[in-house]
Amino acid sequence: MRIAVATTGGDAPGMNACIRAVVRTAVGMGIDVIGVEEGFEGMIMGRMRKMDSRSVSGIINRGGTILRTSRSEGIRTRDGIEGAVKNLRRWRVDGLIVIGGEGSFRGGWDVHRAGRIPVVGIPASIDNDIAGTETTIGFDTAVNTAVEAINKIRDTAFSHERVFLVEVMGRTRGFLALEVGLASGAEMVLIPEVKYTVDEIVSRLKGGRRAGKKSIIIVMAEGAGSPDAIAEHISDLTGYEVRVSRLGYIQRGGSPTAASVRLALLMGSRAVHLLRRLRGARMLGVEAGKIVERPLNYPMTHRKEIDMSLYELAHSMSI
Ligand code: F6P
Repeated sequence: MRIAVATTGGDAPGMNACIRAVVRTAVGMGIDVIGVEEGFEGMIMGRMRKMDSRSVSGIINRGGTILRTSRSEGIRTRDGIEGAVKNLRRWRVDGLIVIGGEGSFRGGWDVHRAGRIPVVGIPASIDNDIAGTETTIGFDTAVNTAVEAINKIRDTAFSHERVFLVEVMGRTRGFLALEVGLASGAEMVLIPEVKYTVDEIVSRLKGGRRAGKKSIIIVMAEGAGSPDAIAEHISDLTGYEVRVSRLGYIQRGGSPTAASVRLALLMGSRAVHLLRRLRGARMLGVEAGKIVERPLNYPMTHRKEIDMSLYELAHSMSI
């Protein structure tokens, strides 16, 4: 048997640990592994190479992905999908593992349907926005990276008695912002899923100041609005000194936490075992701490919901 592995979409810390788990599990079972470079773009262009145990040495602690990745437009087209299938056939691949987010599962699903190639999707994304799994490879790392940064910001916020708007990643969803807000003790969390008005923010800020707070941190997801515009509004209405800090791409890199590595190992190994007997297309997920299997197109037919009790908790802690 011969399988291919690809990392696709935005990178996430722990992808390398997952590649390592896939390769070493397969080698241990006598299965050949082909590494696809640059995600679906590389699959379409035929950029693939054989991998062995040594090709994944020394990467368990490295962020990013040694296979590299891409945001592929090609895999959304019929020509692209056919090209990817042709190359997988040329390399005599019997099964494919895609490590990535929802877009990766969609691409994997299309490749499966066009080429009847069995596919397993492993959820890896700092956004943790994939339906069918409680968590994703890389999410825990990104949360910790952001919390560490905010703890530093709080020092200066306190010293100058300033309000900080800290933007974390999450173009469309607020899972990362919510978790970061909880763990950093933010006074407010702004996420795309929950509407807010500047008046609400202002009344919360004034309440905080009346209660004697010296530093106020508002964590907001990228998709929750413009931090600069909100900062200007707040400062016009209150006279408070407001600063904006965008954490940006540091959240995507760095060594994975032990929790991200653990998940990567469990899922990488499980995916190979699953692929050995698979005809169809499946994704792996976490439910109540256990690895579960679902149809690969599950995230396309379900929406992952924000846990509103966590959102309430974050705000009720900041009185
Ligand atoms: O990987 C998801 C994500 O980090 C989003 O939160 C963010 O908006 C997006 O990627 C930006 O990434 P890129 O610049 O690679 O498209």
